[in-house]
Parts: sequence; structure tokens; C-alpha cells
Amino acid sequence: MIYYKNNNFILYHGDTMCLLNQLKQANYQADMIFADPPYFLSKGFTIKSGNKTKCFDKGEWDRIRPLEEINKFNKEWLSLCRDCLKDNGTIWVSGTYHNIYSVANCMTQLGYKILNIIVWQKPDAPTTLSHLHFNFSAEYIIWARKDKKHIHFFNYELMNQLNGGKRMSDVWNIPTVGSWEKHFGKHPTQKPLRLLYRIILASTKENDSILDPFAGSCTTGIAANLLKRNFIGIDQSEEFLALGIKRKEEICDKIAAKKIFQKMSENPNEIMVIINHARENRKHSINYSH
Ligand SMILES: C[S@@+](CC[C@H](N)C(=O)[O-])C[C@H]1O[C@@H](n2cnc3c(N)ncnc32)[C@H](O)[C@@H]1O
Repeated sequence: MIYYKNNNFILYHGDTMCLLNQLKQANYQADMIFADPPYFLSKGFTIKSGNKTKCFDKGEWDRIRPLEEINKFNKEWLSLCRDCLKDNGTIWVSGTYHNIYSVANCMTQLGYKILNIIVWQKPDAPTTLSHLHFNFSAEYIIWARKDKKHIHFFNYELMNQLNGGKRMSDVWNIPTVGSWEKHFGKHPTQKPLRLLYRIILASTKENDSILDPFAGSCTTGIAANLLKRNFIGIDQSEEFLALGIKRKEEICDKIAAKKIFQKMSENPNEIMVIINHARENRKHSINYSH
């Protein structure tokens, strides 16, 4: 049953396995899937600094688990996602070393063809407390198509334009979530809109359908709707979905939507290229600046 619907933005509340199964039974086929699953890295870790206690725990849903359980979980949702993906569709899955090898292995076993592993380099990554290793400053995003034989959609020309006319590489320098995208509160693992902007432009066309089986605060849905794509999101937390609904309702206001679009389409850490192709007026002019 639909939990929330606002034009091209649909949310389901509950366990993703169960809801993906229902979408599969209804023959739903997405053009693209973005999945930001649990990384299984939370250990209940807190640290005291002065009289403040900082918590590094993301929540029960992210609690560390034995490898066999992580593999079973990943295989199940990745298999259901594959059934809900069009033959020429693609899937993006984010992670760190805690889950990404399990995800990659499951994908290969299920018949997906891996296209790239994007390194999302964070120029403003927080300093890691331990002095026993290098600072953590990257996440990895696997991009894959449904199988070896079907050709997928890739907006090659637009990606090169976004990169100032040069071929775009698999290392993306994008800042973490800014204050401008968390004024309703913050999801503990919220993804930046700038990341989703690039992913969506790279792999979908206007009016395509995008599915996010771990929607959280609905970053995927906000970027999708601002780019005129349709969105279906699933999450088991009403608290996170409430955040997503507030964000969706905010962009129903044209002025607010324009402001967020502007921020989302500009990256201060790379050559800033504004592609009007991706904007409402769809003029093909390009504006390069640093
Ligand atoms: C890494 S977060 C996604 C954050 C999101 N990308 C954003 O920008 O806000 C993963 C989400 O998956 C949800 N989740 C974890 N296990 C789930 C399950 N079995 N079914 C549905 N949702 C689940 C959690 O509630 C959490 O919001």
C-alpha cells in the first residue's frame, strides 16, 4: 500500500524485501535504481569530548553483523532489484569496505555486469579519530547493468560537458551534505544532492522511473523530481520518511525548487559547469567558471 504520493513522488513504508517483492509481483520495472543500503558498520561507539558525548552509531538498522548474514541480506535485495529493473536499466550501489565487497560479489553471482566502481572522494571528510591508519575520505559506488547482453543508457556527451569538455573519470570530488540540504534535520547517512544529480543525469532521461529501496530522507527522490524524473522510494523508518516528505513538499514551491536546483548543479570542488541542457529552459548553452 502506498504510504505517500505527491505527483511523481511515491513512498512505501516497510521492509524493503517485502515491498520489492510486491513491486515485482506488480511487474514494476525501473529505468534506474540507486541503493544506499546499510553499511553494517555501527558498533554503538561513542566518544567524550569535554562535557559532550559524540555518537558514531547510525542506528539499529546499521548494526554490525556476521559476514554470512550481510551476504544473505545483500543477495536478497539485489536479486529483487534485478527483477524490478528494465533490461536496459542500471543500478548504483554505495558503500565502504564494510559492505562493498559483499555487494560486488553478490552482483556478479546474480548476473549483473559491473560497469564502474566510482570513487566518491570527499574534500571535506571529517578527521578520523584513530591515528593507526590514513584518514577515511572516500566511499565507493558500484554502477552495474542488468546483464552482459543488454546495452544500457549512458549520457556520455553530457558527462563530458559537465567535466569541461574532457572525458569524465571514475573519481568524483564532491563535498559531503551541506547545511542547505539539511534544514529539516539530517539523516545519519544522508547523501549529498550533488552526487545524485550526477548519477541521475548520467544514467536516465526525463520522465524515467527511479527506484530507491533504502530511501532514508529521499535524497534520490528530490534530485529525481528536480530533474523531471519519477521516483519510488522504500524505507522502514517513518521518522526518515517524514524528513523526505518535508523535503518533497519544500520543492513544490517553485522558488525553493529553483534555489535547490542551482546549488545541486554547481560543484565548488570541480570546474563548475552549468549545463542549461539539464535546466528548465533547455537551452544548450554552457557556462564554465572556477
Ligand atoms: C544508508 S541509509 C539511506 C540514506 C539515504 N540515501 C539518504 O540520502 O537519506 C539506509 C536506509 O535504509 C533503511 N533500511 C535499512 N534496512 C531496511 C529494510 N530492511 N527495509 C527498508 N528500509 C531499510 C534505513 O531506515 C535507512 O534509512
